[in-house]
Amino acid sequence: MIYPPLVPAEPAAAGDGTPYSALYDDVYHAAHGALAQVRHVFLAGNDLPARWSESERFVILETGFGVGLNFLVTWQAWRESRASGRLHFVSVEKHPFRRDDLAGLLAAHPELAELSTQLLRQWPPLTPGFHRLHFDGGRVTLTLLFGDAQALLPQLAATVDVVFLDGFAPAKNPGMWSPALVATLTRLCRKEASLATWSVAGELRHALEAAGWRLERRPGFATKREMLAGVRMGAVSPAPTLETLPQIPERRAIVIGAGLAGTAVSERLANRGWRVDIFERHDGPAREASGNPAGILLPHMAKDDALAARLSRNCYLYAIRRFADLPGVRWSPCGVMQIARDASHEILQRATIAQLKPPSDFAAFHERDAAAELIGRAVAHGGWWFPGGGWVSPGSVCVAMLVAGGANIRLHFGAEVAALRKYSAGWQALDARGGVLASAPHVILANALAANRLLPRALPLTPIRGQISCLSQEMAERIDPPFHHVLCRSGYVTPPQAGIVCVGASFDSGDTDLGTRPADHASNMRRLDELLPGAAQNIDAAGLGGRVGLRCTTPDRLPLVGGLPDTAAGHGSSTVLDTLPRMTGLHALLGLSARGMVWAPLAAELLASQLDGDPLPVERELARAVDPGRFHLRALRRGTAAL
Ligand SMILES: Cc1cc2nc3c(=O)[nH]c(=O)nc-3n(C[C@H](O)[C@H](O)[C@H](O)COP(=O)(O)OP(=O)(O)OC[C@H]3O[C@@H](n4cnc5c(N)ncnc54)[C@H](O)[C@@H]3O)c2cc1C
Ligand SMILES: C[S@@+](CC[C@H](N)C(=O)[O-])C[C@H]1O[C@@H](n2cnc3c(N)ncnc32)[C@H](O)[C@@H]1O
Repeated sequence: MIYPPLVPAEPAAAGDGTPYSALYDDVYHAAHGALAQVRHVFLAGNDLPARWSESERFVILETGFGVGLNFLVTWQAWRESRASGRLHFVSVEKHPFRRDDLAGLLAAHPELAELSTQLLRQWPPLTPGFHRLHFDGGRVTLTLLFGDAQALLPQLAATVDVVFLDGFAPAKNPGMWSPALVATLTRLCRKEASLATWSVAGELRHALEAAGWRLERRPGFATKREMLAGVRMGAVSPAPTLETLPQIPERRAIVIGAGLAGTAVSERLANRGWRVDIFERHDGPAREASGNPAGILLPHMAKDDALAARLSRNCYLYAIRRFADLPGVRWSPCGVMQIARDASHEILQRATIAQLKPPSDFAAFHERDAAAELIGRAVAHGGWWFPGGGWVSPGSVCVAMLVAGGANIRLHFGAEVAALRKYSAGWQALDARGGVLASAPHVILANALAANRLLPRALPLTPIRGQISCLSQEMAERIDPPFHHVLCRSGYVTPPQAGIVCVGASFDSGDTDLGTRPADHASNMRRLDELLPGAAQNIDAAGLGGRVGLRCTTPDRLPLVGGLPDTAAGHGSSTVLDTLPRMTGLHALLGLSARGMVWAPLAAELLASQLDGDPLPVERELARAVDPGRFHLRALRRGTAAL
C-alpha cells in the first residue's frame, strides 16, 4: 500500500465559534458542551467507566480523532475511575491538525489542560501510518492511524471492546459510515463489544444490523433527540492471527542479550507487568554492537515509500519519543543533514520529497546553498534535512531501559546461555555444563549473531564488521567552523559531545575480526574529509581511538521480530505466515543491522504487544515484513527448505 501525502485539517470556526471543517462543511462537535457530549454519547453510551473497571486491558477504537476531545475526556475518566488495567485508545484520522493548530483548539478546554499538554508534547509530525504514544507510565496508550479509515482499519491488528463512531454527518462524510467500513471494524470487535454514536441515520443502522449489532436508541445529547448504542451479537471474537501470537497466560520471559534489542524488549514487557530474567554474557549491558559512544538517528527514505521506508519512519518517530521520555538517555535531537552522495542521488533526494511531500518537521530537501547555510560550510550537493534526528548513546539507552523496567527485570550479567531446552511448561536456559540457569514459558533471543548457536537450524544472519573512529576533544576543537548537526553522506560524523566526535563507519560483510585497524581509521578520516573538508588534515589516523562492532544483518535488511518458525515441522497445508508452524514460546528480536538505535524501541514494543495481546503498533503488513518466519516460508515455497 502506498499512502498519499496527508492533507492536514485547517482550523476554522462556525459562526458560534465551534471548530468547523470547510472540507466537510460540518462542525467537530456540538455547539455547547463539547465535553458533556463526549460523556453523554461515547462514555455513558458504552456504559463507561463501569465496563472497564474489571479489565486488565481495555481497547477503544474511534473513527475520527479530530480535535482529540473524545480521547482526552476518556483518558480523564480513566484516571478518575482509578482503573487498574491499561487503556488502549486507537483512533483513525484522515486530516490531522498540525500541532500548533491543535494547541489553539484545545486551549478552549482549560479543564483538559494538563492532558492536552502531554498530548501536544508527543504529537507526531503529520506523516501517514501508525503512531504509538504512551501516557501515564504506559497505563494509557494512544495509537493514531493517520490516513483514510477504509485503507488503514484493515491494517489494524487488535481485539476491540468498544467503538466510538464519530465521523462528520453521514450525508457529508459517507465514507466514514459505509457498510464496508462497518464490516471492517466489526471484524475487529470481540463478542459483546459495544458501540455508541450520536447518529441514528437509517443507512448506518441497516449496515450495523447487517454486521450483527443489536441496536438501541437512547436519548441524544442537547438538541439531538436520539443517539445509538449497540452490542455485537452472536459473533466470536477475532481469531488470533500471526500478529497476536498464541497467548500463554503466564507472563514470564527469559531474554538473552543485553544490547539495545534485549534491554528494550525487557523494558516493554516489564512495563506490562511481566517478570523478565535477562542474561548477558558480559559483565554489563551494551558491550558488543550496542557499545559505541554514539550512533545516529535518521529514517530511511524511499521515493516509492516502500515497506522498509514506512517501517523505518514509524520506528524513527517512536524512538525519538521514547528517548525524550526515558530518564537517563544521553542523546541530542540536533538535526541530521544527509548530503547527497552525487548528482544523481541529489536528483533522487529532491524527487523523493516532491513525491512524498513530508511535513517539514519530519524531512525536507535543501538545495546546495541552503544546505551550506544550515551547516555553516560549503557542500558539494544539496541534502535531506531531518530536524528531529540526531545522535544517541546506545549504552545509555540500554541502562535507561533496564532502570525503567525496575524490579520486574532480574539482571544476570556474566551469564552465558549455552543451550535452550524445551520442557513441558516452556523453556530452560542452560549453562555450558547443562545446569539450568532459569526457566520460563517464553524465551526471547536478543543476542544478535550468537542466536544461531541456540537454534536447531540457523537463521540467515550475516555479520558486517564496522569500525568507528573517535576524535579527541583537542582534535574536535580544531574543526573550524564548529558544527552542530549530525552530518552524513557515505559516512557520518556526530557533533562534539563531551569533547568527542564519532566518525563512522567501515562496512565489511562476513568479516568478524574485532580488532581495530589503522586502515579503517584512515578510511573513516576520508569519510570525515568528505563531510567537513580539511577537518582530517593533521590527524594522525594511527593515533585515533575507535571501536569495532558486528552488525547482525538479514538478507532483506529488515529485523526479525516475532515467533520463530518450527523449521522441523514443515508447513503442512500452509503457504502463509499466519499458519506457519512456530516454536511455541520462542521469539526473536534480531537482525537490527546498521539501524539498531532506530529499530529497537518500536520493534520491542511490537514484540511485547504480540506477546501480551495488545493492539499492534504497526500495520499488519509491516508486522509481516519483519516476521522471523518469512525466509523459511520462502524456502518452503521454493522447495529449498531443509526439513
Ligand atoms: C560500527 C557500527 C556503527 C553503527 N552505527 C549505528 C548508527 O549510527 N545508528 C544506528 O541506529 N545503528 C548503528 N549501528 C547498529 C547498532 O549498533 C546495532 O543494530 C545494535 O546495537 C544491535 O543491538 P543488539 O541488541 O541486536 O545486538 P548487541 O548489542 O550485539 O547485543 C547482543 C548481546 O547479546 C549478548 N549475548 C550473545 N549471546 C549470548 C548468550 N548466549 N548468552 C548471554 N548473552 C549473549 C552479547 O554479549 C551482546 O551483549 C552501528 C553498528 C556498528 C557495528
Ligand atoms: C466529528 S470529527 C471527530 C471529532 C473527534 N472525535 C473529537 O473528539 O474531536 C470527524 C473526523 O473524522 C475525520 N474523517 C473524515 N473522513 C475520514 C476518513 N475517511 N478517514 C479517517 N478520518 C476521517 C475528519 O477529518 C474529522 O476529524
